[in-house]
Amino acid sequence: MRLVFLGPPGVGKGTQARKLAGARKLAHVATGDMLREAIKSMSGAGLKAQALMEKGELVPDHIVIEIVEERFSKGDMKAGFILDGFPRTIPQAEALAAILAKQRMALGRVVYFDAPDSVLVTRISGRRTCKKCQANFHVAFVQPRRPGECDHCGGELFQRRDDAEDAVRERLRVYKEQTRDLVGYYTERKLLVRIAANQAPDHVFAELMRAVG
Ligand code: AP5
Repeated sequence: MRLVFLGPPGVGKGTQARKLAGARKLAHVATGDMLREAIKSMSGAGLKAQALMEKGELVPDHIVIEIVEERFSKGDMKAGFILDGFPRTIPQAEALAAILAKQRMALGRVVYFDAPDSVLVTRISGRRTCKKCQANFHVAFVQPRRPGECDHCGGELFQRRDDAEDAVRERLRVYKEQTRDLVGYYTERKLLVRIAANQAPDHVFAELMRAVG
């Protein structure tokens, strides 16, 4: 199974990707998580990305493409993968096509998660993320078993800096300007399936399972 998860910030891509990757033993490649790891380790890519991410802007294509290309050199991609948050621009989609061609792989589906802006803002403003494993929870909708503590690894939960109101508004604007065009791009290539993400997580997951088979 080789999938791309596409959709606006806060729609639930990461939540669903973790669940599906666990159920089907797929590699979960989340460029946002990889960039946040790069920031923590103070790598060159991380230092360049930090200010842009905090403002809600996209990191330059060449940085993200290099990170993804390197990830494809790891053996676990062969068993199947979910690309969560990549590609986000047409040049990234073209780079992905070239990477896959080199690996003699083809994409199975591009899953487009759709929900109204008001839902996205409510989800992002209540999100809490694990400092250790980056799992996501929500103060109202996806509560951890113990307050402030990750169910998966016991790590401390915190609020991402780019989940502040100004950055969220900018992320939504950037999504509409630069990423939404990918819906048309993948529709033309007959790869897109649309999921109504404005439902409880288990219902979204059931719809996802039907869509990817
Ligand atoms: P990234 O980390 O990818 O952020 P994003 O795309 O904005 O997505 P989010 O993580 O905000 O949301 P999500 O859809 O995963 O939702 P989640 O499952 O957490 O990217 C961050 C930044 O990195 C970008 O702004 C950019 O700067 C940079 N970047 C990353 N990739 C890049 C690229 N390819 N090119 C350039 N720059 C790049 O859910 C959200 C909340 O809702 C959670 O609290 C969750 O618990 C809750 N929730 C989930 N599902 C449901 C549900 N069904 N019902 C109720 N609540 C739910």
